Amino acid sequence: MNKYFLSLMSILILFQSFKVLDEIFYHEANNIQKGYVVLEEKVEEKEIETTEKTSENEEIDINELFNNASIEKGTKIARQCSACHDFSPNLKIKVGPPLWGLVGRKVGVISDFKYSEALKNYNKNWTRQELNGFLENPKNYIDGTKMIYKGLNKINDRVNLISYLESLK
Ligand code: HEC
Repeated sequence: MNKYFLSLMSILILFQSFKVLDEIFYHEANNIQKGYVVLEEKVEEKEIETTEKTSENEEIDINELFNNASIEKGTKIARQCSACHDFSPNLKIKVGPPLWGLVGRKVGVISDFKYSEALKNYNKNWTRQELNGFLENPKNYIDGTKMIYKGLNKINDRVNLISYLESLK
């Protein structure tokens, strides 16, 4: 009786320890893998979301900001430029080229003005987007420009100024 009982017990213990070992190894391996897969998916989703959001946001933001832009405030900001730029239809050349009719105009096309190679070869039009980038930090935006101006940090200032520039036609 005792013998049988002992062997039954040892079988049970053996069985139990298999179960425990199985729990430890099999489940851990399983969990690690699951965790890894889930994490990877999340990271990928986040990356896509952020890249989409930033590019969308910039487009939406800048055009939305123009809805509330103030030409009057832009006129005041333009005083910072008037030492070097003429804003009138006379298209006078000062230190810099005249800015009448600038928005939509090709970069570097005032024939009597001696542009830097950087602007001459830029080959784009002055859109809202281009002006927004250039006026934030001219030297960073178009490497090699000879416009010496530190730039306007606030996007609202740039938007107001660009609205003023759009009115010059
Ligand atoms: C210290 C003088 C100076 C100031 C201040 C200045 N600019 Fe300029 N700007 C220049 C010069 C010089 C150029 C020609 C740059 C080149 O050829 O690389 C230029 C070029 C430009 C152009 C390109 C025009 C074209 O025909 O393609 C724009 C746009 C412009 N400036 C806008 C502005 C605005 C707006 C301000 C004020 C926020 C301003 N600048 C302030 C000197 C100045």
